[in-house]
Amino acid sequence: VRVAVLVSGRGSNMRSLAAAAGDAYEIALVASDKPEAAGLAWAREQGLATFALSPRGIGKPAYEAALDAALREAGVEVIALAGYMRLLSDDLVTRWRGRIINIHPSLLPKYKGLDTHARAIAAGDAVAGCSVHVVTEELDGGAVLGQAEVPIEPGDTPDTLAERVLSAEHRLYPEVLARFVREGTWREG
Ligand code: GRF
Repeated sequence: VRVAVLVSGRGSNMRSLAAAAGDAYEIALVASDKPEAAGLAWAREQGLATFALSPRGIGKPAYEAALDAALREAGVEVIALAGYMRLLSDDLVTRWRGRIINIHPSLLPKYKGLDTHARAIAAGDAVAGCSVHVVTEELDGGAVLGQAEVPIEPGDTPDTLAERVLSAEHRLYPEVLARFVREGTWREG
């Protein structure tokens, strides 16, 4: 299955997805709304196909139309968001219904949105973690496909917790993506 990974930043999850590519899926495109994203530079060095365009100046509809065209041109079937920091429009979500997944650094439905680690610590939670979910119009709201838990240790700061959760993300995301593409549920709809 041909997968596109969308990144806005460092792209460590994208690298873990690329490292696990093989029988189940291949990375057909790495796309970014931030032409200067570190993840994009790495993808280029690897010889992966890339697409980079900033919505700044041209506006979101034109940006998304170009992104959508690049995805189709690359024969992409599934989109994996990996630190993609921009909300997809309802229109794009509709076009790719059931075929976009995301990794979020909390145990959903807890802590949708930003600052998940600080919020988990402030709440006195004993565990934190990450979730891979289907992307819908509701932010971090689609069906959860898989989760991994990590302990919150005494003295944890948002940064130390983020690091522990990130290691769990790197294990979880490739595993869930491989299962998702094997199941191929989007083909039924
Ligand atoms: C990860 O924590 C991911 O869960 C969140 O943004 C971060 C991206 O990190 N959505 P990276 O770019 O994959 O290193």
